[in-house]
Order: sequence, then structure tokens, then C-alpha cells
Amino acid sequence: MKTLVGIDDIAVYVPRLYLELASEEHPEKPTEFSRARESDPAKYLHGIGIAKMSIPDTYQDSSVLATNAIFELIERNNLSPANIARIDIATETGVDESKPVAAYVHGMLEQKYGKGAFKKTSGVEYKFACVSTADALESSLDWAWAGRANGRSSIVCSTDIAKYPLNTPGESTQGAGAVALLVREEPRLLSFDNVIGTYMEDEDDFWRPLFSTTAVVHGKHSEKCYLKAMEGAVDHWAEQAEAAKLIKAGPGESLVDHVGPMSFHVPYPKMAEKGFAYLLRHFWRGLPRWTEVTRKIGDEPKALSFKKREEFEKAESEYMRHFMETPQFQKEYLDKVADGLIHARESGNSYSASEKSCLSMLLETKARKGVDLAGRRGGSGNYGSGSKAKVSSWVFQEGWNEVAKKFGHSEKLQHRRPVSLIEYEALHEAGPLPDGRKFVAEPENEFVLIDVTPQGYRHYKFTD
Ligand code: CAA
Repeated sequence: MKTLVGIDDIAVYVPRLYLELASEEHPEKPTEFSRARESDPAKYLHGIGIAKMSIPDTYQDSSVLATNAIFELIERNNLSPANIARIDIATETGVDESKPVAAYVHGMLEQKYGKGAFKKTSGVEYKFACVSTADALESSLDWAWAGRANGRSSIVCSTDIAKYPLNTPGESTQGAGAVALLVREEPRLLSFDNVIGTYMEDEDDFWRPLFSTTAVVHGKHSEKCYLKAMEGAVDHWAEQAEAAKLIKAGPGESLVDHVGPMSFHVPYPKMAEKGFAYLLRHFWRGLPRWTEVTRKIGDEPKALSFKKREEFEKAESEYMRHFMETPQFQKEYLDKVADGLIHARESGNSYSASEKSCLSMLLETKARKGVDLAGRRGGSGNYGSGSKAKVSSWVFQEGWNEVAKKFGHSEKLQHRRPVSLIEYEALHEAGPLPDGRKFVAEPENEFVLIDVTPQGYRHYKFTD
């Protein structure tokens, strides 16, 4: 029988600072941020779906976020460095043009485990905007499927600091974080299907030029690219899943009926919710349930009935808003997707780390609610600007819930402190903090960046 390969455990690193965009308890009450940006906090909470954005402190870059997540994963699983064959990093906010975050991670880990402890552990940095996690994971899965693991594990870690210029529409969709996945044979959480859907084309929706610390984005265009690429990748996955007889839809059924919990790239929660609505419509068309939906909300707008493309797009967007309000959509959304989005609502975007952070939250929440998912299939959809989407599927393993209950993810979101607008803007612009402070929150039991010399040497240490 073919060896099962997949994710055995997950550790998320959540920065301990956040900026409040809107209050969950009093959604109408202006926040310091909404007042400063002269906007309605309800737009953040309901229009975009974000209440808080994670903010890194002065001593944090993408390397320390990654190492903190990986360190927790290694310690929790009592892993021996000799049994970790590779530690690959997915990021689009790496710290050097040549030296990969993977090398800095090695250096930091060896401060704890001894010089040379990881010399037989390989590592590389993957880049393709937010989708690189899917590429890094695919490579680890392939390596194990090819029979090269020999009992050893690999770690795939995604880490990013999502940053747009102050006072721009992108500003409310920032965030930061890292997530480390333990990949091995006979995994305790999820075993992956050997079927991966891809869609790729050259797009200018979002990029970060070499000279810039913030991204350039064509926001509305990027949303269309996300939807188009995700649909293309899902179709490619579905073709292969049917051919491999993984899933067969019976009469009146759709393929997605056979896929339970799903986790998507979440630049902001409303985008993932919309993505899921487009996916359901795509698979439900022609089924009796779609006839039932259209009986309530009317027929879909047709491009040919509009003189201008923008008019059609407006009607289409309005139509999908109505679909998202139907009980048919709401049931599927609450059952399959919403639990994972709690992370993004509380923490914002973390680019390459976003989908797997939401997957962690999805599994932890379902496990703590006592949902029985062993043997069921779930799916992941990753999107990276530029642009590419990848879709994969996996099966819950017996006992997955005992592992997921112990992630500690929700607790990490609760143990954070808010930053003031002045602190946030100083951290964003790497300017001086109020009262000449060196940082906002004292580091505790974590790796920190100490300094960067004019030649670009980066020094890190572990603080007890
Ligand atoms: N109450 C409730 N809803 C409100 C509201 C209010 N008071 N005011 C506005 N809204 C709604 C709007 O109707 C709109 O809803 P729809 O999208 O359903 O039309 C929503 O809030 C957003 O408001 P705006 O249309 O005014 O949008 P904006 O100008 O603030 O820009 C954005 C939003 C495009 C997402 C912008 O934040 C942005 O550019 N973000 C970065 C790019 C991004 O995240 N793109 C996603 C796809 S690309 C990707 O996924 C890769 C990645 O990680 C970047």
C-alpha cells in the first residue's frame, strides 16, 4: 500500500502586538485608526472582515517570526535535529537578496541545539507571492512520496510581514505571522492526495519592487485575478481528482459536496468568503439546488446584456452579494470555511502564511467543537499575485482532533496587546518610538533581531 504523507502538526507564531481597526463589541464606535483615516469602522469589520491587524515589533523580521514558529514545532514534538531532513521557507518578505531566510533560521536554531546540529538539514527559500507555501509543501510531499524521507521529517514554514503604504486602501489589509508545518509519513493530522491543481499567468495585480519595503497593488484588479486563478486551479484539481477516481459526484451532487472543511488564501476574510461563493456557483450550476437559488435571487446577469464591461461587473458583484445572503450559501460557508477565518479577522493578512494559519485555526476550532471529521476530505486553495493558484486536497486522519486541540492558536490571539496609532505608524515607518523606547513589548522566550550592520550582517539571539 502507498505510504501516506502529509501534515503531522502545525505551530503558528502570532506577533504580540496588534492595531485595532474596529471593535467586535461596539462595531459602530470609531477607533483611533478609523478616526485618523476618516473611515467607517463597519467597513473594516463587515466590508473587509478584519477587526485587528498583527504588527511586528522593532526586533522582528520574517526570519525571527519563522524561527519562533519552527522552534515551537520542534520542542512540542521533541524532534531531534538529525531527524529533520529539510527546513524550507516560503516568504515574499525575505531579508536579503541572496542569503535565504532558511540560512538565518539554521543559525538561530543552532544557538539552541548546538553548532552543526542542522548541518545535514537542507533548506531553501521559496518565492511566488502568497502561493509559495503550496509550492514548498508540494516539494516536501513529492520528496516523501519518492521514498526519500526514510523516517525523517521535513518542516515547511511560511513567514511574512504584509505591508502597504500608510493612508492607502491596502493599509487595512496588513498583518504579519508565521506558520510551521511538520511534514512526514503516516501523519497524525492530514494525509495529502497526490493531486494538485494549478493555474498560472503573468499578471500585474500586486508586486513589491526591489527598492520598496511596501507593496504596489491594483486592489480591484487583484480581486479579479484571485477569483479567476482559483477557479482555474480548482478545475484542474477536479479533472485530476475525477480521473484518479478520488471523488465521484452522484446524480444531483457536485464534487464539492465531497470536500468538507476548506481553507483559502485570505488577504482579508471577505475575499475568501467571495472566493468560496464563486466556487459554489461554479459547481452548483445545472443542479436542482441552483435552480432553487435562482428562483429566489433571479437569473445570473449575462455579459452580453450590458453595453459596458464595468456595468456587467457591478451587476455580477451585486448578484453574488445576494447569493452570499441565501441560506444555502450560509450553511455551506459556516460549515466549511468560517471557522478558519477567525485567524484573519483577528490578525490580518500574512501573505504566504495566511492560508495555513487559517487552516490551523480551522482544525483547532473544529476539534474543540468536537466535530467528527476522521476519514473526511478537505481542501486548500492558495493564491499568489503575479499570478498563480494551487489547489490541493487531504484526508483527516484518525485522532487528528487530539493533535489539533493542542495547537494553542486561539490562546496566542488572546495574549496580545494593542498599539496606539503613534506606535503603529512609528513601527511601520521604522521611525523612533515615543519616549525613545527601543521596542513596544519586552521580548519573552523568543528569537529576536539585535542589529543589522551597514554591510548587511544580521545578528539574532534568543532572549529568555
Ligand atoms: N459598511 C459595510 N461595508 C462597507 C462599508 C461600510 N460602512 N464601506 C465599504 N464597505 C464595503 C464595500 O462595499 C466593499 O464591499 P465589496 O468588495 O463587496 O464591494 C468593501 O467594503 C471594500 O470597500 P471598498 O470597495 O471601498 O474598497 P477599498 O478601496 O477600501 O479597497 C481592497 C479594498 C481592494 C481590498 C484594498 O484594501 C486593497 O487593495 N488590499 C490589498 C490587495 C488585496 O488584498 N487584494 C486581494 C487579492 S490579491 C491577493 O490575495 C494576494 C495578497 O495577499 C495581496
